[in-house]
Amino acid sequence: MKKLMITTLAASLISLTGMAQAQDGQALAKDAGCLKCHTVDKKKKGPAFKTSAADFKKAGLSGDKAVAKMKEAHEADDLKGVKSDADMKAIMAWVLTQ
Ligand code: HEC
Repeated sequence: MKKLMITTLAASLISLTGMAQAQDGQALAKDAGCLKCHTVDKKKKGPAFKTSAADFKKAGLSGDKAVAKMKEAHEADDLKGVKSDADMKAIMAWVLTQ
């Protein structure tokens, strides 16, 4: 019984952390100005995040590899709103869940 409770508790903690990260990624993307050129589900200046998420998943890209591929698609100026590599990773992690 105790074991079951601990497992349940651990599982809910993991999903809570996941949710917090997803929200952070979205807020960071907004702050960084990604949404000036992108939306989640419609093509704007850049492709929809849903489209990119599907492409990246098909290519098996996540984490640093996803960040590197995404950087290749932009001028440094486009990404100057991103404050740190950690933020960039969190943003891309969110993009890939779209
Ligand atoms: C000034 C406009 C602009 C801004 C700002 C911008 N993007 Fe883009 N993005 C583009 C364009 C245009 C493309 C398509 C480039 C291409 O196909 O070569 C693109 C492509 C992408 C791709 C797909 C890359 C690929 O290789 O398929 C991702 C993912 C992406 N952007 C994420 C982001 C994120 C995250 C941010 C914010 C940190 C951001 N973009 C900011 C214009 C922008």
